[in-house]
Amino acid sequence: MWKHEGNSAMSADDWWRYGTVYQIYPRSFQDSNGDGIGDLPGIARRLDYLVTLGVDALWISPIYPSPMADFGYDISDYCDIDWRFGSLADFDALVADAKSRGLKLILDFVPNHTSDRHPWFIESRSARGSAKRDWYLWRDPAPGGGPPNNWLGNFGGPAWTFDEATGQYYGHSFLPEQPDLNWRNPEVRAAMYEVLRFWLRRGVDGFRVDVLYHLLKDETFRDNPPNPAFVAGGDPSHSLLPLYTTDLPGMQQVVREMRGVVDEFSDGESARVLIGELYLPLQRLMAYYGATKSGLLHGVQLPFNFQLISADWQAAVIDRIVRDYEAALPPGAAPNWVLGNHDKPRIASRVGPAGARVAAMLLLTLRGTPTLYYGDELGMTDVPVAPDQVQDPLERNLPGKGLGRDPQRSPMPWGDGANAGFTDGKPWLPLMAERATCNVASEACDPRSMLALYRHLLALRRRDAALNSGSYEALTGGANVLAYARTHGAQRVVVLLNFGDDDVPIAQTLLPPDAVVLASTGMDRNGSPIGASPTLRAHEGLVLATAAATG
Ligand code: GLC
Ligand code: CA
Repeated sequence: MWKHEGNSAMSADDWWRYGTVYQIYPRSFQDSNGDGIGDLPGIARRLDYLVTLGVDALWISPIYPSPMADFGYDISDYCDIDWRFGSLADFDALVADAKSRGLKLILDFVPNHTSDRHPWFIESRSARGSAKRDWYLWRDPAPGGGPPNNWLGNFGGPAWTFDEATGQYYGHSFLPEQPDLNWRNPEVRAAMYEVLRFWLRRGVDGFRVDVLYHLLKDETFRDNPPNPAFVAGGDPSHSLLPLYTTDLPGMQQVVREMRGVVDEFSDGESARVLIGELYLPLQRLMAYYGATKSGLLHGVQLPFNFQLISADWQAAVIDRIVRDYEAALPPGAAPNWVLGNHDKPRIASRVGPAGARVAAMLLLTLRGTPTLYYGDELGMTDVPVAPDQVQDPLERNLPGKGLGRDPQRSPMPWGDGANAGFTDGKPWLPLMAERATCNVASEACDPRSMLALYRHLLALRRRDAALNSGSYEALTGGANVLAYARTHGAQRVVVLLNFGDDDVPIAQTLLPPDAVVLASTGMDRNGSPIGASPTLRAHEGLVLATAAATG
């Protein structure tokens, strides 16, 4: 069994500040029983892979009982495991297995909506006078008939569905099968905080909180204004500005309460963490770190910073993003960075194979907690899905707009055998065509593979205090070159990332004295002195330090 040797700066309290998070989309990671769907025993079987990779925490997308209208983001019981993924016993075993390897386990908490099959909603919908009526958003039709206001669902169509039996509409930010809970109701809050406690008692180390910014809606249900920037033919949910449906006043109080619940379980042994899913402009994002109380921030420890996911892939653009983000962070806040997730096209498809290596070096050398999406460490690309094979409800509802999320959810290729070692059955989504070369077993044998690069960078980040917890200093790299330094005490590393198609000379002023390459994206210069006339090759990234300082 493999176990972490520890992290240079990491203590029990702040593993989330200096560690690395790895997102597992459980349907697609490892199947253990031949039904073509990944499961908990499958994940357990691959823990050693994750230790060898060098990550610190796993975030697993939802594994609770679900009708799977939105593949687990429609939950019918918050306190159990879906039979497809296993059982509570499998879960407990996974927690124990992860802990024994020094890995943290983070669950997905989906507070905004339940499934329409959840007993709470069934009761709520049963009668206008039901005790749980106010647990969801029930409204009368508009005066002339039709939905109560103009709000739109994120997966197409109105955010309202009419319930014939009781003559009212219920609200849903996503599918009609995902009715929104009413977070203004104190009973709802109390029930949901009990859900957090249920899993915290079972030993989880924290939660990624799904669409955190959606929880509260306008108390008087005003219409959202039109979005002047909307381009016809785009995602129709973007035709309105979400003024009255997201990031409402009162959210900071909710966040403080949630944090209070996880803090009940944080002890000297280990801190429990909240990671917020927040697609918000920079200044609004910062608010979710919370206010300072006795010198500490009391919001979510890691409000997801998704800027790299949508950025134009140019050195100058990224440089600006990083500088602005660093400048906007409140004192004591932990920065974080994300390149991809189960909702967005994969980085290797966005920026190409060489660009994806530079992106990996960026993610793993910036200041802040990186979150890796499973398979990105292999250079996985989006896998096209034939129209009649589409699984994602977003693509089914709004076909052909390029919104579908199946391509980035393709099963993990573990080897070059049948079904890439993912399943003995028929995989629920098609495997990557390139799986003969893009798979764990092959890449593990190739010292220059993407996997080798990820392992090397993760090990370096773990070992090197400057990379792990050093300060960030923007440098001027020149056109197409992003340059920065990370410094911790006497230790300083310089990162140079060439986003361009041309080789460029490296200015002597950028180089640490007596510079040696700690990591090169090509994995062909590690340990070499940079030399007298140093060059950064096209689409190359380098981590440099002074030879003497590297031991
Ligand atoms: C989040 C999830 C996404 C899901 C949606 C509704 O954005 O990441 O996959 O469809 O919430 O729960
Ligand atoms: Ca299975």
